Amino acid sequence: MRYLCTNCSHIYDESIWDLEEWYEPGVKLYDMQDYFVCPVCSEWIDSFQEIVEEVNYIEDKDNMTGVEEEHYPIIIEEDKKIKVKVGKEESHPSIWEHFISSISLYDEYGDLVEEKFLNESDEWSAVFDNYDLDEYEVRITCNLHWVWSLGKIKREEI
Ligand SMILES: [Fe+2]
Repeated sequence: MRYLCTNCSHIYDESIWDLEEWYEPGVKLYDMQDYFVCPVCSEWIDSFQEIVEEVNYIEDKDNMTGVEEEHYPIIIEEDKKIKVKVGKEESHPSIWEHFISSISLYDEYGDLVEEKFLNESDEWSAVFDNYDLDEYEVRITCNLHWVWSLGKIKREEI
């Protein structure tokens, strides 16, 4: 999740390192509520508001735009494993200013099952093990273009 500091407009993204690398990726903001301060303006956690993410759904797989192709999740199912890579023709950029920060698996009810955090040097792939889901959704989060998904997928469809 991402939070906006209402004092200075700094955005705290739980999935990536903050500017000074004080906080590790994957640590929930409210797990640090006793000591967290804004890395930019030093305001306490009370000044942070959750940012509600909009998901970009890739609907027409045969006529994708460039930005859709770049964030297209390639999904391979193997037994109970779900493997994910990002990028249809070319892989997604992997520089600090622009990289895939996480790949998340949701169940058929839209609840988060697992989120894999990546950093700018990872291969942009995630493997989810041992999930017996008939229907699921994979969401890709890019630090520049935010959240991408193909929508719900039935296991047999792939
Ligand atoms: Fe991107």
